[in-house]
Amino acid sequence: MIESRNIGGQSRLTYGQIGGGPGSFIGPVHRAAIAMNNQARIVSGCFSQNLEKSKETARELDIDLNRVYSSYEEMAQKEALRKDRMDFVVVSGPNHMHYETAKSFLEKDFHVVCEKPLSLDLTQAKTLLKLSKERKRLFMVTYTYTGYPMVREARHLVRSGKLGEIRLVVAEYAQDWLAEKAEESGNRQAQWRTDPRYAGISCCVGDIGTHIENMVHYITGLEIKRLSARLDTFVKGRSLDDNAFILLTYENGASGSYWASQVAVGKENGLVVRIYGTKGAIEWEQENPNELRLSLLGAPQAILRRGNGYLSAPAKSLTRLPSGHPEGYFEAFSNLYRNFCVALTRFEETGTLEPRGEAEDFTDVLDGARGIGFVEDCVKSSRLEGAWVDATKISEG
Ligand SMILES: NC(=O)c1ccc[n+]([C@@H]2O[C@H](COP(=O)([O-])OP(=O)(O)OC[C@H]3O[C@@H](n4cnc5c(N)ncnc54)[C@H](O)[C@@H]3O)[C@@H](O)[C@H]2O)c1
Repeated sequence: MIESRNIGGQSRLTYGQIGGGPGSFIGPVHRAAIAMNNQARIVSGCFSQNLEKSKETARELDIDLNRVYSSYEEMAQKEALRKDRMDFVVVSGPNHMHYETAKSFLEKDFHVVCEKPLSLDLTQAKTLLKLSKERKRLFMVTYTYTGYPMVREARHLVRSGKLGEIRLVVAEYAQDWLAEKAEESGNRQAQWRTDPRYAGISCCVGDIGTHIENMVHYITGLEIKRLSARLDTFVKGRSLDDNAFILLTYENGASGSYWASQVAVGKENGLVVRIYGTKGAIEWEQENPNELRLSLLGAPQAILRRGNGYLSAPAKSLTRLPSGHPEGYFEAFSNLYRNFCVALTRFEETGTLEPRGEAEDFTDVLDGARGIGFVEDCVKSSRLEGAWVDATKISEG
C-alpha cells in the first residue's frame, strides 16, 4: 500500500498555482490530489486573470493575501525573492498560458508541474525541455491516467514480455460534451478549447488525443514511426477539429489505430486501450479503472483487479485502499503528485535528478513534448488528406 509522508504533521514542500480559480475544472483537482498525500501545501497563487476572483479562491484556501498575485509574471518575480519561496508551481490555466508561464518559473529556478498539452507548438515544447535540463528542475506534465495502479500493471505486463512482441494497438478516447455548440451556451471550458488562440492548432487531438498517445507510449514504450490522420469538424461554425481517426505504424513494425472524439453521443470519458502481442493481450478502460483484462494465448481470459496480492510491485505501490473499495480519478492524480514530491524531496537532499526509479515515476516534459509533436503530425497529415507522415522524434538532449 502507498505510504504518505508527514501524515498528521505539517507538509514540508510548498507550492503555488496558476489557474484553478472559481468555476474552473482541473485546478481544484490538482489541489485535492496534492492534499491527499500531505506532502505539500499551497502558499501562493494567481488563480484567475481577475485579481478579485483570485483572492476569493485564496480566502477559501486560507492563503496569505500578500501571496496572491495579479499575473503569473508578478508571481514568478516576487516569489523568487522571498526567503520562504515556494518549491514548485502548478500551471493549470488554459493551453495558451502553459509555455510562457512554465518558462517564467523555470527561469526563476522553480520546479514545475504543468497541464497537458504542454504548449501551443513544438518550438515552445523543445524550449521548455531544454530549459528544464539547463536549470536542473523537475518538470511533471500531468497525464493523469498514468497514475492508475492498473495502468502500472499493464505497463509491467507489457514491459516484462508477458504479451510477447506487440503487434496491434487499438485505443480510443470518446466523449460527447462537444456534440452541440457548447461554446455558444456559456460553457467556459468549451469556449477556449474550440478557439485556436487559446487551444492551439487542434481541439480534439490536443485535448484528448494526446492522452491516447501518451497512454500507449507509457504502457508499451512503442515509438511511432509514421501516421495518417483524418481530423473532422462536425459541429458547424467550429474552427477546430472535434473528431479524429488516426492510423499508425510503430518502429517495431506494429500497427495502431486511435480514435478521439468529442461528438460521440453517449460517451463520457471513454479512454480505452487494447494492446495485442504475439502471446497475449490486455484491455483497460478509464471508466472502470480498477480492472484490467488479460488474455493469454490458449488460456481462459482473466480479469485482474486492483488491490490483490497477485499484482506486480508497481501496481501495489500505488494502491491506497483494499480491493473492492473503488479508487478513481483523484487517487490517480494524487499518485503522480506523490511520486513527483518524492523525487523533489530526494533532489533537495542529494542534488540529483536522475535516475528516477519506480517510486519517482511520473510523466514529464519529454512526454509533454512528444505529445505536441504528435498533435502537429496529426494536423499535418490531415491537411494533406490523410497522407502518411513521418513521426516527429523528440530527443532528451
Ligand atoms: N490532465 C487532465 O486530465 C486534464 C483534465 C482537464 C483539463 N486539463 C488541462 O488543464 C488546463 C485547464 O483546463 P480546465 O478545463 O481546468 O480549464 P478551466 O477553463 O476550467 O480553468 C482555467 C482556469 O485558468 C484561469 N485563468 C485563465 N487565464 C488566466 C490568467 N491569465 N492568469 C491566471 N489564471 C488564468 C481561469 O480563470 C480558470 O480558473 C487545460 O490545459 C486542459 O487541457 C487536463
